[in-house]
Amino acid sequence: MDKVIYFDNNATTAVAKEVKDAMLPFLTDLYGNPSSIHHFGGQVMAHVDTARERLAALIGASPTEVIFTSCGTEADNAALWSAILTQPTRRKLVISQVEHSAILNTAKELERRGTHVSILPVDGNGRLDMDKAREEIDEETALVSIMWANNETGNIFPIRELAELAHSKGALFHTDAVQAVGKVPINLKEDGIDFLSLSGHKLHAPKGVGALYVRRGVRFHPFVQGGHQESGRRAGTENVASIVGLGVAAELARANMDTEQKYVRSLRDELEQGVIAAIPSIRVNGDTEHRLPNTTNISFEYVEGESILMLLDQFGICASSGSACTTGSLEPSHVLSAMGLPYTAAHGAIRFSFSRYNTIDEVRFTLEKLPPIIARLREISPYWQSSAANKPACCKMGECCKKGECCK
Ligand SMILES: Cc1ncc(COP(=O)(O)O)c(C=O)c1O
Repeated sequence: MDKVIYFDNNATTAVAKEVKDAMLPFLTDLYGNPSSIHHFGGQVMAHVDTARERLAALIGASPTEVIFTSCGTEADNAALWSAILTQPTRRKLVISQVEHSAILNTAKELERRGTHVSILPVDGNGRLDMDKAREEIDEETALVSIMWANNETGNIFPIRELAELAHSKGALFHTDAVQAVGKVPINLKEDGIDFLSLSGHKLHAPKGVGALYVRRGVRFHPFVQGGHQESGRRAGTENVASIVGLGVAAELARANMDTEQKYVRSLRDELEQGVIAAIPSIRVNGDTEHRLPNTTNISFEYVEGESILMLLDQFGICASSGSACTTGSLEPSHVLSAMGLPYTAAHGAIRFSFSRYNTIDEVRFTLEKLPPIIARLREISPYWQSSAANKPACCKMGECCKKGECCK
């Protein structure tokens, strides 16, 4: 295998060359501490500030509203803990069933310490139950935290409506926008959001850097305690090189948002349509009307997702059978389970997620390799052999017949 075909960009992305080039001086000559009084360190702070301005411009925020963190997970933790700690009279946190584990497990920890956690369900297409949201968001609620876009299906949630709902009850609103930032336009000046989390490695910056947006005027309790960095809101010497890289990545995403959205959508749609045309018994999971342009989640019914991934891997094709954090477990993904997908579909779900570096030739190559892989796996799948889908149309469900022959 001489080339990797990387369709797993919701797990992580390649660092852009422009990003790497901008980072290098801060890993070599410009190693000063941005908090130092001397010029050698102090000059570095100007680059951190530029990165802050660039990131703020991407999300329609003011630079002072951006706090750099070590990752999206830290930003999520910081938002949830801060909202609970700064509003002791409100003891309720409202989240959804399909949040990332960074939110789900932080909510569990808060619950162990006395916060009441309400988890909103989703429907078969992964859309949030808005009636339940209206019921659950009340005067007790400290924070509503709903992701902007789901990492597995790409579903985009009605963030503005949810923020308004939260505010109408005096609650704060946080969104985990780790999968959305850089992929879809975000303008926080218009959206009335109080906290937003993002992560560098999802938009062609390196791993180990993220940010939390905190709307001006919203009370904030630092999650990481220590020095006075980030205006006293996040202690720890800044990861300067990565912050600079995130700034450049944000600038690239902002400058190319329209063309990139169109480009990745065309690749995604080509793959999806090709699969629909060539392979029987598949289903596209999620809300296909409202989803990220780069994501498709397809169930190849009656086969194991892990087996598909292993055979694709032999051709250098990388995809995912769930969120990267849950890979390694054979449990069906909590997102697809929450959507009520039948066992045979949840286990055969594959996520393909695209970036600016993918090409139409890669999609075509995958469309050549995938149908025989699925056919081969179905040949040895007892579920497929006994499924109604494998019987001719003239057979009734459950009747025994030989493959390809009509029942008497
Ligand atoms: C929706 C969502 N939130 C949070 C995270 C965690 O981000 P990080 O890897 O930067 O901690 C991820 C990563 O996959 C994600 O997809």
